[in-house]
Amino acid sequence: MKNIGCTSFLLASLLLALLPSSTARDTITPTTPLSGGQTLISSAKFFALGFFTPAGTANSYLGIWYNNIKTQTIVWVANRDSPVAGNSTDGILSISRNGALIITDRSTNLPVWSSQTTSSLATPLAQLLDNGNFVVRNVNSGDNDFAWQSFDHPTDTLIPGMKIGVNFDTHINRTVSAWKSDTDPSSSSYIAAMDTNGDPQLYFWSGLRKIWRSGPWDGLHFSGVPETTTYIQFNLSFSFINTKNEVSYSFNTQNSSIVTRLLLNQSGHVQRAIWLWDTERWNFFWQAPGDQCDNYAACGPYGVCDPNMSPVCECVQGFMPRNPTNWALMEGKDGCRRKTTLDCKNGTDGFVRVSGAKVPDTAQAVVDFSLGLDGCKTRCLMNCSCTAYALANLNSGSGCLMWVADLVDMRLYTIGGQDVYVRVAAADLGPASDEHNHTSELTAVIVPCIVVGVFLLAGVGWCMWRRKSKRRRMLGTSSFHDKRSAEQERIDNDFELPIFPLEVITAAINNFSAENKLGEGGFGPVYKGRLDDGQEIAVKRLAKTSVQGLDEFKTEVMLIAKLQHRNLVRLLGCCVQGRERMLVYEYLPNKSLDAFLFDKAKSVLLNWQTRYEIIFGISRGLLYLHQDSRLRIIHRDLKASNILLDEEMNPKISDFGMARIFGGDETQVNTIKVVGTYGYMSPEYAMDGVFSVKSDVFSFGVLVLEIISGKRNRGVYSASPHMNLLGHVWSLWKEGNSLKLADETMNSDFPVDEVLKCIKIGLLCVQERPEDRPLMSWIVLMLAGDSGLGLPEPKQPGFFSRFPVDSDSSSGKQESTTINYDISVSIIEGR
Ligand SMILES: *[C@@H]1O[C@H](CO)[C@@H](O)[C@H](O)[C@H]1NC(C)=O
Ligand SMILES: *[C@@H]1O[C@H](CO)[C@@H](O)[C@H](O)[C@H]1NC(C)=O
Ligand SMILES: *[C@@H]1O[C@H](CO)[C@@H](O)[C@H](O)[C@H]1NC(C)=O
Ligand SMILES: *[C@@H]1O[C@H](CO)[C@@H](O)[C@H](O)[C@H]1NC(C)=O
Ligand SMILES: *[C@@H]1O[C@H](CO)[C@@H](O)[C@H](O)[C@H]1NC(C)=O
Ligand SMILES: *[C@@H]1O[C@H](CO)[C@@H](O)[C@H](O)[C@H]1NC(C)=O
Ligand SMILES: *[C@@H]1O[C@H](CO)[C@@H](O)[C@H](O)[C@H]1NC(C)=O
Repeated sequence: MKNIGCTSFLLASLLLALLPSSTARDTITPTTPLSGGQTLISSAKFFALGFFTPAGTANSYLGIWYNNIKTQTIVWVANRDSPVAGNSTDGILSISRNGALIITDRSTNLPVWSSQTTSSLATPLAQLLDNGNFVVRNVNSGDNDFAWQSFDHPTDTLIPGMKIGVNFDTHINRTVSAWKSDTDPSSSSYIAAMDTNGDPQLYFWSGLRKIWRSGPWDGLHFSGVPETTTYIQFNLSFSFINTKNEVSYSFNTQNSSIVTRLLLNQSGHVQRAIWLWDTERWNFFWQAPGDQCDNYAACGPYGVCDPNMSPVCECVQGFMPRNPTNWALMEGKDGCRRKTTLDCKNGTDGFVRVSGAKVPDTAQAVVDFSLGLDGCKTRCLMNCSCTAYALANLNSGSGCLMWVADLVDMRLYTIGGQDVYVRVAAADLGPASDEHNHTSELTAVIVPCIVVGVFLLAGVGWCMWRRKSKRRRMLGTSSFHDKRSAEQERIDNDFELPIFPLEVITAAINNFSAENKLGEGGFGPVYKGRLDDGQEIAVKRLAKTSVQGLDEFKTEVMLIAKLQHRNLVRLLGCCVQGRERMLVYEYLPNKSLDAFLFDKAKSVLLNWQTRYEIIFGISRGLLYLHQDSRLRIIHRDLKASNILLDEEMNPKISDFGMARIFGGDETQVNTIKVVGTYGYMSPEYAMDGVFSVKSDVFSFGVLVLEIISGKRNRGVYSASPHMNLLGHVWSLWKEGNSLKLADETMNSDFPVDEVLKCIKIGLLCVQERPEDRPLMSWIVLMLAGDSGLGLPEPKQPGFFSRFPVDSDSSSGKQESTTINYDISVSIIEGR
């Protein structure tokens, strides 16, 4: 025994003595080159540099890869287009006396690659840094004083700190091109590079053909990557430099254990990946082009691509297909042309707003950061070659982006995107463009209509509304009301809110008859009705004492009615007379989610797929409410009975925006009203009346857990008799028995991963501290994504710690929150 130990000790010391260079080093000097088979390791051991031979080939390359990641992932290649023939022991990397890096083929002793350095160094040194940058510098030079660096010569990958773009001082143009194949790192024709014309943007090319465009930087993200904000969870930060010396994009992580990269892959897609340490693999969580609307200029000039429409191409209002035959065949590349030529000199042109858009190609746009949106409009109207304008910086709300060419590559987003104002002739502005006519028309209409033609007018209004809502994103705005705030302008220039005459409504709902009553909500009774044209409606009659003034009310209803999303119940209009206020909604035949979920006979209709779709739909609807750029609605009363289902069991959130309609201020705490339902209310809201988007996230979490379990949060569980659902879920989670939560009616017929992911997301949403709960944007991303993505571990749900309850016990101290679960409480203080 002793002998063996002794021998191996000797052997080890012998090896160490023989191979001094095999201990980690991070530099080479003219006297200590790197021979094939050796590697440089950066000081904190994040990156390695050495020769590698792609599997199945007889070529080797000098590359940089992650030192700690098992699947070798090459992030940089030096000699991608001039390999060393033979395996990785056949190359040598050296640095010349004046500081040029040289790769030599050992068998021929000829150099195959060298770095081009302009300056000659006295005491050169090449070093692999911990950020993955391989640099050449003088031994005693400063920290960032490099004669050459690999970051200036990207291969197919950007890692944190690396830039893509142009430096006009050094004349370095950092571009990225894909590997030809998995085993061939040589440059393919897929290239990503910064285009500095107009307002700078990134393009991907395949040869000379543009495949994708990032859009310009809008202060927060690229116009074509609106989902960027959801990466905050990965602690990524982004930087876009746009000065006269430099135009570049880069990203960074605050946390070195987050390993992420941006890659242009061999099939011409850009992918963003994050390394999952727990499962030891890369997760590709974003790519571009992402859908058919991402393909460059998919709908041609003045065409707008909307992935939620079929066909996806539409013309901007005031334009028509250039080639109607192709257009009908769903081939939109030819784009659209104007219906009416611009007037320009006479000053009668106006603008049509396209909302939620990726701005058109800005290669031929002009940017003026000294102007705001109003100044931008004026400037555009004054210049006959101006075709559109938009806000340049969404973060500061300023800057003028003005197009002086045809508008190409415009698309719409379900989430995000911005307003683009497209110039059209007065004739194409549409009827809703003049504010004064609009209001006087309304008054002129309401009075006589009581006598004659009530139904006819309602019908006309209804049709107009329907027609407009179909093209809601391309509504006209007039050009002459510069003084008002953006929001005011939105109200005036969008659509007219249909105001239903009282007679029409009372007729439709049978004069408030009991048979027509669907139920009694927190704000008053709801009736089912049928309009004269057969359209079914649901009418909410608001409690008389609780309503604000007529104008404020109409304003709010109009704003709410403009929120349209497939997962929101549509507000069709309102009815006002005297103190009577009614809201008219689309009618959904399937009633609300609670009617299915908590009824054993009906819940069998909800298989896992349906439940998952419902969860996902609600999350998207809520995200829309939270992120709609101007309104940012906090629902405040999200619960199963406020989720309505259509014929296809698509969920639609109802009762949103009630706080606004009732005159509450969305942004203020503790003002006029507190609305909510115990059991769904977050601790900070229930206790202190403090609400935020995170209180909605809490309610969403409760809803998710209810949907999975088919049980109400207030239910009592035999295993833990004094617990609500959250407590029950939490104890199952801690025991590792989460799957027991799943509703028995599903008969365990579901993908286990997906159910566990949803339970975990539910638990993350109901955490005690609002700041621990995720944002809806992140939740949508997680629900849509790969179930393996490393979700953080949830902390104990929020209902515990307000009470002196030991988290492991199941004592009944939290009872005080479990009294009134299903009653919507509206604490309405007078003004
Ligand atoms: C590399 O090739 C040489 C012959 O060219 C061979 O002797 C050596 O074993 C090879 N090394 C590896 C690591 O494959
Ligand atoms: C940078 O390179 C790309 C791709 O080769 C090219 O399209 C672009 O014009 C270059 N930019 C500059 C400023 O040279
Ligand atoms: C992200 O950064 C913040 C501070 O900037 C830190 O509190 C948080 O833990 C980080 N998140 C992760 C997942 O590293
Ligand atoms: C970095 O991230 C890891 C895991 O994502 C986390 O455990 C650690 O606390 C983070 N560190 C900092 C400084 O945020
Ligand atoms: C490139 O990325 C796209 C989009 O993520 C993916 O569909 C494709 O399989 C990737 N190609 C390769 C060769 O990995
Ligand atoms: C401008 O106005 C004049 C007179 O009002 C009219 O004759 C002319 O056609 C208008 N020009 C355009 C392009 O509409
Ligand atoms: C219109 O704008 C373009 C781009 O800024 C400019 O080149 C042109 O001179 C302008 N025309 C007029 C009449 O101002």
